Amino acid sequence: MLFLFIFLFSIHLLQSCPLTDEYLSRCHCGILTNGESYIKCDENSLNHIPKFKRSYSYDELILINNNIKNLSSTSFDNIKTIKRINLHGNSLSLIDENLFRLLGNYLEELILTGNNQINSLEFLTRFPLKKLRLLKLNRFNLTNINLEKIFLNMTNLEIVYLNSCQLKQIPHINHIKYLDLEDNFLSNTIFLSTSYYQLNLAHNHISSIILQNNKNLISLNLSKNNLNEFYSLTISNKNLTTLDLSYNHLTSIDWIILNDKLLYLNLSSNYFSTTKFNSFPKSLTSLDLSSNQLKTIEKNLFFQQLNYLNLNLNPFDCDCHLKWLRNLMKKLNTTTWSCSSSDFKCQSNLMPQISIFNITFMKYFSQHGFSIQWSIIDNYQTIDYLQITIDKPYRTSRKISSNQTHAIILNNIELYQYYHICLILIHKYANDKYCQDIFTKTPILNKMKLQETDVILNDDNNNNNEIEINTNDFNDNHLYLLLIGSCIGALLTFILLLTCCYLCYRLHKYKNINEQPIYEQCSQHIHYPIYHSHPTCSHHQIIYNSENISNSTDSSRIDASLSSTTNNPKHIYQTIDSQEYRSLKRQHQQLFELWKESVKQNR
Ligand SMILES: *[C@@H]1O[C@H](CO)[C@@H](O)[C@H](O)[C@H]1NC(C)=O
Ligand SMILES: *[C@@H]1O[C@H](CO)[C@@H](O)[C@H](O)[C@H]1NC(C)=O
Ligand SMILES: *[C@@H]1O[C@H](CO)[C@@H](O)[C@H](O)[C@H]1NC(C)=O
Ligand SMILES: *[C@@H]1O[C@H](CO)[C@@H](O)[C@H](O)[C@H]1NC(C)=O
Ligand SMILES: *[C@@H]1O[C@H](CO)[C@@H](O)[C@H](O)[C@H]1NC(C)=O
Ligand SMILES: *[C@@H]1O[C@H](CO)[C@@H](O)[C@H](O)[C@H]1NC(C)=O
Ligand SMILES: *[C@@H]1O[C@H](CO)[C@@H](O)[C@H](O)[C@H]1NC(C)=O
Ligand SMILES: *[C@@H]1O[C@H](CO)[C@@H](O)[C@H](O)[C@H]1NC(C)=O
Ligand SMILES: *[C@@H]1O[C@H](CO)[C@@H](O)[C@H](O)[C@H]1NC(C)=O
Repeated sequence: MLFLFIFLFSIHLLQSCPLTDEYLSRCHCGILTNGESYIKCDENSLNHIPKFKRSYSYDELILINNNIKNLSSTSFDNIKTIKRINLHGNSLSLIDENLFRLLGNYLEELILTGNNQINSLEFLTRFPLKKLRLLKLNRFNLTNINLEKIFLNMTNLEIVYLNSCQLKQIPHINHIKYLDLEDNFLSNTIFLSTSYYQLNLAHNHISSIILQNNKNLISLNLSKNNLNEFYSLTISNKNLTTLDLSYNHLTSIDWIILNDKLLYLNLSSNYFSTTKFNSFPKSLTSLDLSSNQLKTIEKNLFFQQLNYLNLNLNPFDCDCHLKWLRNLMKKLNTTTWSCSSSDFKCQSNLMPQISIFNITFMKYFSQHGFSIQWSIIDNYQTIDYLQITIDKPYRTSRKISSNQTHAIILNNIELYQYYHICLILIHKYANDKYCQDIFTKTPILNKMKLQETDVILNDDNNNNNEIEINTNDFNDNHLYLLLIGSCIGALLTFILLLTCCYLCYRLHKYKNINEQPIYEQCSQHIHYPIYHSHPTCSHHQIIYNSENISNSTDSSRIDASLSSTTNNPKHIYQTIDSQEYRSLKRQHQQLFELWKESVKQNR
């Protein structure tokens, strides 16, 4: 019913539209449900302001997206009570300074689009526009205009859009609340101190911004700049609740500088690769981190408070470390978040692993050499450095950075030899060694230029400082083995000696106390190996079992258990029965000889 009424009323108005006949087909007059009347012309239908028949009291004139170029001093003469003029999307080239000579007491909103040439705002100041509340200028040339002065007397002005106006600086207009400077020429570092409540600086060339004192500022839009630094003095920017930093070059942000009132934070389309949440604004509910370089996010309870979280288009490693996030995203009903490898399992543990280790025998000009390639999976960056060793003669390379993936060994490589090459990963938890043997036959000719840094072992004379030949170690494998052999031999002898002492001591004691020889009690257990089957015979097992001896390089255990018996060497011969002696002799004849020698010497 109401709509019908409005419809009829509109038709009535249409009939009494104050336009000359030639415009009636292109324009119409109407009334909104709130009682405001308007005149609106079709887009692309006009190249000048239409002619008004008589003075009518209309509220709004809408002529958007037309081709109007000139505004003369008489353009609005017949609609002098108009409150809102919208000429958005035209291309004004000429505005008469006396344009608003009759509108000063009525005009509340003015929207004009220029042609990038108009560089005077005299039409705004010639007659005071006391009621102007909103002003939108688009595509003017305000480079050299003193805007503070222009707006000085417009005490009702609250909202100002100066878009694409070639501005190089932020004007300070004290009484306005909303300033939109999207798409201007703001650049470099900006130290921001303003009294605005909302400020849009999107689509400029600002590279760094420091919020100093903006006590009123509630919303700040810095989207589409070149920001690589954002800083805010929390204490004097307390009211900030909306911050848009999307489409910038930020790699990180210090969460501590974000004040607790912040509700909305948009970090979309930046270069965040890690986010360390040392803090989180207490009231933040909406966080956009989409289109960054995030691989993982450390678990953080802060996220629980969000009701919007966008993580789309990040190269997440969806392993077990992101399980918590999957659960959170489920809770937030965010279905768009997806992981490329979405099993949320951790294949590897913390240890780094080698996935490729490829050695090729090459010919580099006159020299033979090895080209070594590898690839390491080290998700938690535990590797300190890498080293490569080669035998014939045994050499160790310099320390290689963990991000390097290939190296070349050049000198002393001979044909028709087996070489044993190892890659050693020195990491937080241990040193891992991966080795390969390669036979030097038919080298592949190297066609590429050698890089200094690739060569890790070269001619000793030239690159002395790069080579760390382990002269302290044994560079002869045979000598090395010989020494180890003699050490083990000496150890065995010592252990044997101790056992015998212990044995004879026990035997002696048993004979004295039980009048019973010990080997009768234990004889069935003496044949090895025996693993703790009889408490009184357990030491036999440790000592006589040849396997155990060679494994027990840790002799402290045995020493400790036998220390009480070592000072009784007298009855050594008696404590070992002949059967035992024979088997022992079979197994360790050589050792036994040594032992006998040492016993003799002891005497
Ligand atoms: C706009 O005004 C200029 C100068 O007054 C005049 O030369 C031009 O013809 C006018 N253009 C239109 C479309 O009215
Ligand atoms: C805008 O004005 C400045 C100075 O008044 C001038 O240097 C610049 O060329 C003008 N821009 C355009 C697009 O006309
Ligand atoms: C502002 O108003 C004062 C007094 O009405 C006047 O003297 C001054 O010229 C005006 N300033 C501008 C920029 O219009
Ligand atoms: C913040 O905004 C409130 C009202 O929105 C205002 O009263 C206050 O002065 C502003 N500044 C600070 C620092 O709180
Ligand atoms: C910031 O400006 C951009 C560019 O105009 C716009 O797309 C975005 O919606 C604005 N952000 C906010 C929070 O209004
Ligand atoms: C964040 O900014 C991007 C780019 O301007 C926009 O597409 C997105 O909708 C914004 N996010 C939110 C939550 O407003
Ligand atoms: C998510 O969806 C479930 C059911 O569709 C609903 O109960 C829950 O309130 C939603 N949560 C949010 C944060 O929108
Ligand atoms: C090892 O390197 C050689 C030469 O660079 C290459 O032809 C070969 O395919 C590699 N092998 C592997 C398993 O990567
Ligand atoms: C490897 O890391 C070092 C710093 O640790 C850096 O200087 C070097 O450029 C990196 N090299 C490559 C190939 O990424």
